[in-house]
Amino acid sequence: MDRRDFIKLSGSAIAAGTLATRRTAEAGVAEQGTPFAAPPIETVRIGYVGIGGQGSGHVRNLLKIPGCRITAVCDIRPERTEWATKEITAAGHPAPAAYTRGPRDFERLSETEDLDLVYNATPWEFHVPIMLSAMKNGKHTATEVPAAMTLDDCWAIVESAEKYRKHCLLMENCNYDRMEMMVYNIVRQGLLGEVLHAEGGYLHDLRAIKFADEGEGLWRRAWATKLNGNLYPTHGLGPIANCLDINRGDRFDYLVSMSGPSRGLQAWAAEHVPADSPKRSEKYVLGDMNVSLIKTALGKTILVEHCTNLPRPYSRIHMVQGTKGLFQGYPNRLYIEGRGREDQWQQASDVLGEFEHPLWKEIAAAAQGAGHGGMDFIEDYRLIKCLREGTPTDMNVYDAAALSAVVHLSVQSVGRKAAAVDFPDFTKGKWKTTSPLPIVHM
Ligand SMILES: NC(=O)c1ccc[n+]([C@@H]2O[C@H](COP(=O)([O-])OP(=O)(O)OC[C@H]3O[C@@H](n4cnc5c(N)ncnc54)[C@H](O)[C@@H]3O)[C@@H](O)[C@H]2O)c1
Repeated sequence: MDRRDFIKLSGSAIAAGTLATRRTAEAGVAEQGTPFAAPPIETVRIGYVGIGGQGSGHVRNLLKIPGCRITAVCDIRPERTEWATKEITAAGHPAPAAYTRGPRDFERLSETEDLDLVYNATPWEFHVPIMLSAMKNGKHTATEVPAAMTLDDCWAIVESAEKYRKHCLLMENCNYDRMEMMVYNIVRQGLLGEVLHAEGGYLHDLRAIKFADEGEGLWRRAWATKLNGNLYPTHGLGPIANCLDINRGDRFDYLVSMSGPSRGLQAWAAEHVPADSPKRSEKYVLGDMNVSLIKTALGKTILVEHCTNLPRPYSRIHMVQGTKGLFQGYPNRLYIEGRGREDQWQQASDVLGEFEHPLWKEIAAAAQGAGHGGMDFIEDYRLIKCLREGTPTDMNVYDAAALSAVVHLSVQSVGRKAAAVDFPDFTKGKWKTTSPLPIVHM
């Protein structure tokens, strides 16, 4: 194996007493065949960047997770770092250093603070600059979704993680939702047989949020004036990619994508936005419905949808189909040949007792009340646990790049009459030898 084949992240100082843990961690890396691990960190010092809607939830989660401290915070709005400072001191920790000198102040944070992890929940355009600056300055990094909006940026984070030997994670919380975890457990137990096809998506009416004068309204709608494709693929795709062992035995090979007309935002604005508002003159290019199909290297098929501008109830589709049966989300049901009645769905709630993912069972009580039904807490917990134990993280930079690449590739394919576009192999062949994600525990 060369350096790119097996990146064992080196750290400057390994605290006394952690050598045994490190040996275990390294053995774990070899066993699991996953490419990234790092020396264990006893107390993970975190710099949090972007403390808006989603970032504030992560800050609250991290304050409840043992073995980490938020020692620096950064936002372009000082009131958000002040809010975080209050939360952090109320939890009994020292006040964090605050970085509020504009949209590039995260650079100063990465350059000057002694941190193990820079974690961000900022608007999409800042994810990659923040992660690159963190890794260049010797910090692990984690980002909200999607990690990157262009293929160049996907490559930039991969190359930086390899060069600086740092973790660079996409924090895909839906991988930790209760149903998604149960389905993964069912798949790992072989109950669906060989998984051949899966469907996922992000179908969420965001019209009011996109037009708000706060939060995502300040930046998310602008993307609809620039790009036509699937701008937010990872919530639906992350969990089903795990079921298909993407980057761990298989990989995304190519994609075709189509978008329908753009009507939803215009119609909503006409009804809700005053005629003299500058918002009324915006021109949206994002098709309200984007449908992409991905073919994997092993010939499996994946449908991914994106729909955020039309009235509709929420769905991530969440369908996983194998040679012995299938799971279908929204509403959650399954059919496994030989179980239950022939040709009849079984309610997912009827099998939860039998197939609940062990992690969910172990952590449900602690996750109660946290964002998005608890899954946000679980992903934060797993991140900190892996960093503390020096084991590979559940997702790595190759997952961040492959899942996020759908943004750019879908835009390309839509612009070329749904022509097939190839995914780069960000792993450079390591997908063939990397073991599937194990059933992880608390
Ligand atoms: N995983 C999920 O379920 C989920 C849910 C919501 C949002 N998100 C993601 O989280 C991210 C943030 O979304 P949000 O809803 O919290 O948006 P938001 O607008 O509520 O919060 C963004 C925060 O970042 C700050 N900010 C903007 N530019 C900055 C910069 N250059 N440096 C430092 N701070 C900056 C803003 O002031 C704001 O406080 C996005 O990537 C979004 O896709 C994920």
